[in-house]
Amino acid sequence: MTSGASEALHISLQALVEPGDDVLVPDPGFVSYMALSRIAGGRVISVPLVDLCLDPDVVAEQITRNTKVLIVNSPSNPCGTVQSRKEIQAFAELAEDHDFTIISDEVYEFFIYEGEHVSPAEFTDNVVTVNAASKTYAMTGWRLGYLAARPEYIEQFHKVHQYVQACANSVAQMAVLAAITGPQDCVTEMRDRFKKRQDILLGGLREMNVECATPAGAFYVFPRVGDGDRTAADLAERGVITVPGSAFGIYGAEHIRMSYAISEADIVRALDRMRERF
Ligand SMILES: Cc1ncc(COP(=O)(O)O)c(C=O)c1O
Repeated sequence: MTSGASEALHISLQALVEPGDDVLVPDPGFVSYMALSRIAGGRVISVPLVDLCLDPDVVAEQITRNTKVLIVNSPSNPCGTVQSRKEIQAFAELAEDHDFTIISDEVYEFFIYEGEHVSPAEFTDNVVTVNAASKTYAMTGWRLGYLAARPEYIEQFHKVHQYVQACANSVAQMAVLAAITGPQDCVTEMRDRFKKRQDILLGGLREMNVECATPAGAFYVFPRVGDGDRTAADLAERGVITVPGSAFGIYGAEHIRMSYAISEADIVRALDRMRERF
């Protein structure tokens, strides 16, 4: 148990990565991956996504003797991409063949609208599986996450966990135990509600002729808008808060990320304000 998925990512990278090691990171990808890899002394290798998807062939091209970790995040933040079984299996085979570790960040596991969730741990032991209560049960502020890996990994991770955190908050652990062992209908209900919000948001964006793929998971859309920094700044002036794609890596610069973890009414209000800009 860790203090959110954030701590799980941090302690795994601290334990696995030595100065000079390469960490392959999806680009665009969740903001913490690059920062935490660098804090651990690693060299970040940006793996450009193909159609917002991590492609095993592109990953293979980046592998060298220094490759220590590949980060996989399905469903993904910021793109909402769900990787296929075949792709996940291919990542696992690369990890076995080249003896590196996959850190698989699966925090959006239960928010999939199309396709299935596949974990690399089905295919290899060279993997650290990271998850959390933050998204599944909307318990972000409770700061509870967890990781699973084979004992040799856990032994090393404990050494870092002990000194940065000592333990995950015990009160929050009891709350998450209740969430995990209780009825799960709320998760399915939330997923259905997210899908409805996604439809409203995508419908509005397409009416404005904004180019946007339909994400298969998570609760983000990642439209291509040209200059992402400029667009995010313009929208912020109108009270619509988005994240410029450049925050997620060099290959995200033409995009903005929009979260639909807000009410339908707020999405409609945001779309009204966006119409003035687009
Ligand atoms: C892909 C991904 N991983 C990890 C986290 C961090 O999760 P937590 O709040 O459990 O630390 C987030 C939060 O946005 C995320 O999007």
